[in-house]
Amino acid sequence: MKNVQSKEPIVIIGAGIAAVYAAESARKAGFDGRIIVCGDEREFPYDRPPLSKKVLQEPREVERISLRDNAFYVAHNIELRLGNAADCIDRRARQVVFADGTTLEYGSLLLATGSSLRTLPLLCPEMPRVFYLRRIADAVALRDALPNVRKLVVVGAGVIGLEVASVANGMGIDVTVLEAGPRPMARAACPTVCEFVVGRHMQHGVNIRTGVTIIDVTEISSGYRLRLSGGGTLDADAVVVGIGVAPNISLAHSAGLEVCASGVCVDGQGRTSDEHIYATGEVAFHYNARIGHAERQENWHHAVAHGEHVGRAMVCSGPDYQEISGYWSDQYDFSVQSFGIPIGEHDVVRGDVGSGSFVVFHLQAGAVKGVSSVNASRDMRTGKAFVRTAAKVPAAVLIDSEADLTKWRAAEGA
Ligand code: APR
Repeated sequence: MKNVQSKEPIVIIGAGIAAVYAAESARKAGFDGRIIVCGDEREFPYDRPPLSKKVLQEPREVERISLRDNAFYVAHNIELRLGNAADCIDRRARQVVFADGTTLEYGSLLLATGSSLRTLPLLCPEMPRVFYLRRIADAVALRDALPNVRKLVVVGAGVIGLEVASVANGMGIDVTVLEAGPRPMARAACPTVCEFVVGRHMQHGVNIRTGVTIIDVTEISSGYRLRLSGGGTLDADAVVVGIGVAPNISLAHSAGLEVCASGVCVDGQGRTSDEHIYATGEVAFHYNARIGHAERQENWHHAVAHGEHVGRAMVCSGPDYQEISGYWSDQYDFSVQSFGIPIGEHDVVRGDVGSGSFVVFHLQAGAVKGVSSVNASRDMRTGKAFVRTAAKVPAAVLIDSEADLTKWRAAEGA
């Protein structure tokens, strides 16, 4: 057991989900020195998934999304330094230098710097009536603007774009979604789920156009005229851009730590190429022992699980990280969930897609390696158990709605 109690304080850069869970986990693992969580935003650390959902719909929701209240930080003796960005890391002096010129010495440092939005040069975030969604301020600006929007164009049909489209449609706004790729949610959903989602958007009157990019933008009195690849134009009062994120690796890179395009390279303990510096969450290109190689994950489950793992590992090293992650997305009256791989070599559907409640099992070499569902939480729970044990349940059983999957769950020891 490695113990870093002598190397206090633990300084955490970033104050998102992974950071807070790491701080709590280090405390739970018995670290009794100072823990300082440093964030560039002024708000108390908050939950991000509601930003593209309830925060856009309910004025008071923004007050309810703090991850933890002040009493939690006091009780766990976790110090928060908010509203001050870290500028650089002086590894020799073991110091973080902040934008306001102050410094902070660390015994162990954790980078939980997350991701930044990818932006479109033609529709940059500084332009009026152009919205991006990552932080509280972004969501509040969009929430306040939506009541005055009649025609909204959403660029990017990922989870963010489609959630915003469903909220705006519910407010009576005319919505068109422009997706560069061949199908929506391609990164995160299998073709069956994707087809269902597109169908529901069409039923609600949202137009999703795939294989389209914006090649020119001109300002018009009501907003923007967008010229599209393949010909034609589209007018919009406002535009929301949700075209993905990239890991914030610049601090690590300029400090000379090993990084790659996918993030800051860390081992199964979350340790970077400097033994005193760790990285967690979306910024970490982390080794996962279950799959036997490194990967980067962008989702809430991973931020929690990896944050907890690395926070603990900073105090006493244990087994390498091996969690499986997933995501959910709420649109209209349905909830998509996915766990494990989102597409298999062989996908089998249980339930009737048309009914709006079904499960897709993603198989690889006959084993259940992933499960996705729409409005089917009971089967989803069983599916997750199958994924955890890579259960070899015959496809004929999985698709048979009459078959009791819980029996197989017991038989597989899942
Ligand atoms: N024009 C139109 N579409 C584009 C363009 C473009 N120039 N560039 C990318 N896209 C599309 C991609 O093909 C993809 O379908 O935008 C979509 C972005 O989807 P995601 O990568 O899922 O990103 P996003 O929806 O923005 O979510 C960002 O927030 O909730 C989290 O897990 C989510 O980490 C992710 C992040």
